[in-house]
Amino acid sequence: MNENLIIFNATIVTPVGFSARKGEEMSQLQIIENGTVEVTRGVITYVGCNRSEERDGYYDRYWHYNARGRCLLPGFVDSHTHFVFGGERAEEFSWRMKGESYMSIMQRGGGIASTVKATRALSYIRLRSQAEGFLKKMTAMGVTTVEGKSGYGLDRDTELMQLRVMRSLNSDENKKIDIVSTFLGAHALPEEYRGRSDEYIDFLIDTMLPEVRENDLAECCDVFCEQGVFSVEQSRRLLTAAKAQGFRLKMHADEIVPLGGAELAAELGALSADHLLHVSDEGICAMARTGVVATLLPLTAFALKEPYARARAFINAGCAVALATDLNPGSCFSGSIPLLFALACIQMEMTVEEAITALTLNGAAALGRADIIGSIEVGKQGDFVVLDSSDYRVLPYYIGMNCVNTTIKGGVLYPVV
Ligand code: NIG
Ligand code: FE
Repeated sequence: MNENLIIFNATIVTPVGFSARKGEEMSQLQIIENGTVEVTRGVITYVGCNRSEERDGYYDRYWHYNARGRCLLPGFVDSHTHFVFGGERAEEFSWRMKGESYMSIMQRGGGIASTVKATRALSYIRLRSQAEGFLKKMTAMGVTTVEGKSGYGLDRDTELMQLRVMRSLNSDENKKIDIVSTFLGAHALPEEYRGRSDEYIDFLIDTMLPEVRENDLAECCDVFCEQGVFSVEQSRRLLTAAKAQGFRLKMHADEIVPLGGAELAAELGALSADHLLHVSDEGICAMARTGVVATLLPLTAFALKEPYARARAFINAGCAVALATDLNPGSCFSGSIPLLFALACIQMEMTVEEAITALTLNGAAALGRADIIGSIEVGKQGDFVVLDSSDYRVLPYYIGMNCVNTTIKGGVLYPVV
């Protein structure tokens, strides 16, 4: 649903551009006080100061929204989540709090494998309604575009079911959030392929990728490139095939050990490499050189009690940094945008301005959509967040507390109650 809407008396706060903002550019926001934004059939057609003249009844066909000085930002883009899954893993969480590591739980058959079991056991309808519940929470925190991954099926039918759930939610006429789907069949080695990981990669390349592509079920392909999961060589093989079949590439890279995932993402021209807690200096340089977006996921580092990713090193090297939640049932059961802002600014030493760019325009770039979303500019989608305040710095300052007053999607208002 798209609407005609005039938002006036707004404090407009936005990065500017149709591609990722890199390095120092990340801190440059455009601020317009007493601003007006005009949205025509869901697309921004004017951004600037309040206008006094009435244009011959032209605005009669527009809804009017008085922002009363509140901040108007681009809708948030959460560019890395796993929100379609079955079951929960609270017990594993309690083991981790007692000192067991994420990888050791995974190696003894828990972790991703336990969510795979729960997801395989769910019906399409149950899976869809659980996923829809997460989308509602995201809208209340200002997210207007989210990326979602498969990867909890690891067999043909369940992987396709996860992707179909996302397609169905994205086709809903009254949707409040756009969904970008990613095929993550290489999330873990399924039990059926134990000891045969190369054969599993063959299965993904020969059977899954073509079927996903033919049915237009995912735009991107991702891989968990990690010691004990999929090697750099296996990741290269899968992603090269995916690229040849028309997928855009993303990677779970250098999360637990510095394996060279960032370097591979640079070599293949991926949209983004994500996590990067243990990235090497060479990996950072390679990403900066090739324009791969560094998607950092502080909520995961927090939940795993790992050191945070080196945001300042990426920014100083001239990289584009995006921030995302990584919402998933294992390493990070959180889609909290407020906590994400706080951790990015307090723990990773990003400025508020950089964090805003990271969660808007650079998140859009990490999904290959910086030309249509991520900033408040003529020609982009009318997706916005209205804050409770006229000062955008409340975003990290309200620690873990939501300061979103209203989310606007395609010119339609969704007040946060
Ligand atoms: O991004 N690292 C791999 N995948 C997810 C976790 C998945 C899970 O634990 O269920 C992540 O952290
Ligand atoms: Fe992830």
